[in-house]
Amino acid sequence: MSDVALISGSLRQQSLNTALLRRAAGLFPHDVETEFVRIDDLPLYSPDGELAQPAAVERLRAQLAAAAAVVVSTPEYNGSVTGALRNALDWASRPYGQSCLAGKPVAVIAVVPSPRAAEWARLELVRSLEVIGARPVGHFGLGGEDTAALAAGTLTEGAAAGLRDLLAGLALQPARA
Ligand SMILES: Cc1cc2nc3c(=O)[nH]c(=O)nc-3n(C[C@H](O)[C@H](O)[C@H](O)COP(=O)(O)O)c2cc1C
Repeated sequence: MSDVALISGSLRQQSLNTALLRRAAGLFPHDVETEFVRIDDLPLYSPDGELAQPAAVERLRAQLAAAAAVVVSTPEYNGSVTGALRNALDWASRPYGQSCLAGKPVAVIAVVPSPRAAEWARLELVRSLEVIGARPVGHFGLGGEDTAALAAGTLTEGAAAGLRDLLAGLALQPARA
């Protein structure tokens, strides 16, 4: 069980979004536990398969249910979030009325090379999380020079400040005993 579940919308080995999530995890106080949630082995969602949940889906739902908060980082693919992330969110949201994200605070982040910083993907993700019944606390994107810096292994001051502000909105309680 972790305090904060981390989901990367990118399945790419050298993903900048996964790298950004690692950076974000490092901004929490030391007593906050973070844990990546795998989405690359989930089957494609279909309502037909909803009740017999495969092991990978059970694991996803258990991890998200146990977390106090979630941070999602996604690339923008064709003006939207990635298919892998979309699929994971659909699994998390069902069966109807049993969303494991219900009421869960979620911070949305994104990194792409474009200076538009994946605004479409972020806005779409926030709206989708609201429909699912989660509690998105805001979003923050990296693009342009911030992305170039991250690719070179550095978080710019502006990016670090934006992330800190966003993550503070998760209002995590001090460490459990
Ligand atoms: C299929 C595909 C579609 C993409 N569409 C967009 C897009 O609409 N907007 C954008 O800013 N970048 C777009 N990109 C670029 C990715 O967002 C960019 O490569 C990003 O760094 C990938 O994230 P990652 O490093 O975490 O894998 C696209 C990339 C791919 C592979």
